[in-house]
Amino acid sequence: MSDFKLELARSAEAVEALLAEILTDTPDAVAADKRLWGAMRHSVMAGGKRLRPGLVMMSAELCGADRQGALRVGAAIELIHSYSLVHDDLPAMDDDDLRRGQPTVHIAYDEATAILAGDAMLTLAFEIVADPATHADGGVRAAIISALAQAAGANGMVGGQIRDLAAEAEPLSQAADILALQERKTGALIEFSCIAGPLLADAGVDQVQALKRFGHALGLIFQITDDLLDVEGSAAEMGKAVGKDADRGKGTLVGLMGLDGARAEARKLSQEASSALETFGEAANLLKTVTDFVLDRRN
Ligand code: IPE
Ligand code: IPE
Ligand code: MG
Ligand code: MG
Ligand code: MG
Repeated sequence: MSDFKLELARSAEAVEALLAEILTDTPDAVAADKRLWGAMRHSVMAGGKRLRPGLVMMSAELCGADRQGALRVGAAIELIHSYSLVHDDLPAMDDDDLRRGQPTVHIAYDEATAILAGDAMLTLAFEIVADPATHADGGVRAAIISALAQAAGANGMVGGQIRDLAAEAEPLSQAADILALQERKTGALIEFSCIAGPLLADAGVDQVQALKRFGHALGLIFQITDDLLDVEGSAAEMGKAVGKDADRGKGTLVGLMGLDGARAEARKLSQEASSALETFGEAANLLKTVTDFVLDRRN
């Protein structure tokens, strides 16, 4: 196993333990509350690569931030990512029945519960970051909350999702427009995960900018490989349906320039990602190998 995979497994174990603790019903929960928390656990605790918390932990380590705080921000970003998947799978959006190898939340529960579980996961994420246990300095917590809100909202993930849906009706014919869509819908949360470390470390603007550039390239690579795997992957390995993007007319580089063209673009971006981390020298070697992990992944 590569060093990156080992480190990812280590951070995933820690973040999953924290998420299990956070996603416990309160003693006064009535049946309806239990159903909501059950739906949240169904989404979050079903597995997943835990890449975003891994990036938070590794960028925190690189910049010398406290591990406990990074773990909490990792749990928060995983909650927001998981909520984005619960809503992405709804009939009104991608209409998918399988996620992380399990029935999607609206199938296992119902649509209203899936919407509300997503809402609760989003707000819980901010509650976790705002807690003084994340960082003693309120200014640092506010900076992270602000970055997270921007990444998740109308100019970030949600904005990307509405462009994604709009592109089904009005196809995008320019690579630049597809990349602009994807840097929002997927890139924004990944870029946030990469700058969470320097923000937690209260690092200088140079480190934040370097990790932002890295996260930007990585986010695009991540969605390009997701789109490649929609064509080349299997539902058994991916734990979700494949072969749907072309039928739905999704705006992807694979659709625009073919498998080879999209792969070449991903490789180009991976050079860009590596070069963004030059300023850290050898200390960034582990983080740099995430691009190989993303490019070679089967799920
Ligand atoms: C899937 O993300 C959705 C995209 C942004 C492409 P992941 O591939 O990280 O999903 P999990 O967390 O491993 O299930
Ligand atoms: C989802 O993109 C990105 C999100 C913000 C959830 P996709 O719709 O391609 O993700 P999958 O393939 O369903 O995981
Ligand atoms: Mg989608
Ligand atoms: Mg989808
Ligand atoms: Mg996809």
